[in-house]
Amino acid sequence: MKITIIGAGYVGLTSGTCLAELGHHVTCIDMNEDRVARLRAGEVPIYEPGLQELMASNIQAGRLLFSADTVDGAADADAVFIAVGTPSLADGDIDLSFVQDAARGIARVIKPNCVVVVKSTVVVGTCKALREIIAEERGALDFSIASNPEFLREGTAVRDFLEPERVVFGSDDPRACAVLEQIYQPLADRGVTVMRTSNANAELIKYSANAFLALKIGFINDVANLCEQVGGDVSAVAAGIGLDTRIGSAFLSAGPGFGGSCFPKDTRAFAATGRKHDAPQGLIETLIEGNEARSRMLAERVLRELGSKANGATIAVLGLAFKANTDDIRDSPSLAIIPWLQKAGCRIKAHDPKAMTEAAKQLDDITFCDNAYDAARDADGVIVLTEWDEYRHLDLAKIAGTMRGALLADYRNLWLPSDMTDLDLTYLSIGRPTVSRASAAVQVAKPASRTVERAMTATSSAG
Ligand SMILES: NC(=O)c1ccc[n+]([C@@H]2O[C@H](COP(=O)([O-])OP(=O)(O)OC[C@H]3O[C@@H](n4cnc5c(N)ncnc54)[C@H](O)[C@@H]3O)[C@@H](O)[C@H]2O)c1
Repeated sequence: MKITIIGAGYVGLTSGTCLAELGHHVTCIDMNEDRVARLRAGEVPIYEPGLQELMASNIQAGRLLFSADTVDGAADADAVFIAVGTPSLADGDIDLSFVQDAARGIARVIKPNCVVVVKSTVVVGTCKALREIIAEERGALDFSIASNPEFLREGTAVRDFLEPERVVFGSDDPRACAVLEQIYQPLADRGVTVMRTSNANAELIKYSANAFLALKIGFINDVANLCEQVGGDVSAVAAGIGLDTRIGSAFLSAGPGFGGSCFPKDTRAFAATGRKHDAPQGLIETLIEGNEARSRMLAERVLRELGSKANGATIAVLGLAFKANTDDIRDSPSLAIIPWLQKAGCRIKAHDPKAMTEAAKQLDDITFCDNAYDAARDADGVIVLTEWDEYRHLDLAKIAGTMRGALLADYRNLWLPSDMTDLDLTYLSIGRPTVSRASAAVQVAKPASRTVERAMTATSSAG
């Protein structure tokens, strides 16, 4: 099958590469010429584990090409996937302009019987509207349209695409369904469930899935707030409720709030769609409000701990990406928490294994450091915002020894309060007892089960 992907970002590039791996002939088109030049040189412009190797082998096999020219890349495709961005407008509604532009671009060149597949996350009714846009450009053209939402997660995108829990596509046109069935046949042959439904249902499934996952995160963060007030331990509570298969343990890691390229914008768009269609999504409206307020709450927790020393304090931020194993900082909690600290007069040093280049484009007045130890040296406080594995293995005694102050705010629950008893640190974490520097030994109760607690801190992340 000849496939063209419009948009070679996190989703387009991964999907294109993986579809080539499944045996299709794929051309990825991006309007960013610099990105295309880098791709043609074999360079992966994003950080995504495993993608580089897969891309190289499929280029080598002659199944994967890159182009900045829609005419050149889409004219003889059997299916054209649109995988461009769908950011938020100022009022929270979805900005469909990139998707609409992509549809106009391909309308002029696609061949008769081509199937246009919308992979971007779009609100219900978008495929219908895109059909009209394409028809306006090429009235006489016989083409099909389908929705095929993508569920991959950055950081595990290649595995998620090649070994998904399910593939969902929807179309009201049997020809589109037949083509998509053929495209995903190699996955169906491996036992993957391929769900075929209507166009509108497929669009709704993606938003409902993301809204539900974000609700789980928002819920456990609210439970964490309660735990902090009453002496509970959110890790134990999450483990206890997660053992119920009706609830499940995934997405029950309390933390700094959900961020990233999907949940914040998708929950906003879902809520806006509900308002527009007179079907209010009250749960999601409340969730969005709580998640946005959380960044300020967590910054204030640190400022309160620093007290009169907050103005002029140096804070080391460990982790800028919205979650581990990606360089993506879109809507990352770091982008909200850092400015609150700066507003209170804090100086920020920061480290992230992969996201510092992107963060430098969006954050001002940050001293970027080569590693976590450099960031922590002479700092009054250290805040962990991303659950990078390398942070879990930091030598905390060494960190404590080089800091000027003694505050460690672990907003990813990388360590246990009981790990702090021999350290000269005040340890704040999410939904668990605070370990005060002066009385560490008496304040910390041993967790009931370290195995369960560690397992819970390592489960899903927000994104
Ligand atoms: N990132 C994720 O984890 C993820 C997961 C599932 C779904 N999604 C959805 O997938 C879509 C794409 O997300 P992303 O993270 O890959 O975005 P992205 O910003 O990484 O990539 C979009 C790419 O499209 C290119 N582009 C835009 N308009 C174009 C046009 N007219 N012609 C050619 N190229 C064009 C841009 O230059 C950019 O490289 C969004 O709707 C998103 O919500 C994202």
